[in-house]
Amino acid sequence: MKLFVASALLFSLLFSADCRVVDISMRDDSYPTDFQPNFDSIFSVSIQEPLATVFPVLGTNLGLCEHILLESIASDCQVGALDSVNVDGPLEDAFVRTAPAVPAGQGFPRQHFSYIETITTIPGLSFLDVVVHLNGTYTWDQERNITLYETSSDKSVVVRKVRTFEPLDGGAATNVSEVINGQCPILEQPITQFEAREAHQAQMNLYHTLFGI
Ligand SMILES: *[C@@H]1O[C@H](CO)[C@@H](O)[C@H](O)[C@H]1NC(C)=O
Ligand SMILES: *[C@@H]1O[C@H](CO)[C@@H](O)[C@H](O)[C@H]1NC(C)=O
Ligand SMILES: *[C@@H]1O[C@H](CO)[C@@H](O)[C@H](O)[C@H]1NC(C)=O
Repeated sequence: MKLFVASALLFSLLFSADCRVVDISMRDDSYPTDFQPNFDSIFSVSIQEPLATVFPVLGTNLGLCEHILLESIASDCQVGALDSVNVDGPLEDAFVRTAPAVPAGQGFPRQHFSYIETITTIPGLSFLDVVVHLNGTYTWDQERNITLYETSSDKSVVVRKVRTFEPLDGGAATNVSEVINGQCPILEQPITQFEAREAHQAQMNLYHTLFGI
């Protein structure tokens, strides 16, 4: 199944490389105006640690690369500038990746980052690997325990992910819940939808390892 999915992905990536219209519609200056999500994923995990322990690691820039690298195909995670951004209304309804920075101390902290995803299409034939470069921002509302993760990639995939943290078991544990909305080229939609849910659940099921549990 995996091999089939990966080969189909390679095919559609090669094929869609010719669809310039797709690339143009996904330029950074078109976000969020032209953001029309066509895949999604919703998942949650409970972590046997209190919110005050979990939030710094999964909710701020402190553990950002560590939790990105839990995704098996992710590598080369780097943090860039840390700035701030103003949002009209709640963070979970906002789009901040391309918003202008405001003076430190205002609004919400926003961490810029980049990483690479390497998608193996045929095991052993690494020259066929699809290498995807992603840029993004991670923004957090420390008071409401809600964060916003947004990325764009050079393969025309745009992702927006809202993460919420809620106490469980009278505060002994924490419910980490995520909603992903993403946009990808239409030819890749079925594969991306399938892969996104699989990868999302696999990654979140490893969050507990960041706490040594
Ligand atoms: C956010 O989490 C902190 C504990 O880290 C808690 O004190 C606070 O009440 C939470 N905020 C909301 C809005 O639930
Ligand atoms: C990521 O950011 C770098 C530096 O700003 C830029 O050169 C590159 O084109 C960006 N890549 C994507 C996929 O947006
Ligand atoms: C965690 O939060 C999500 C979203 O609110 C909810 O659907 C799920 O039932 C919660 N899990 C637990 C164990 O409370």
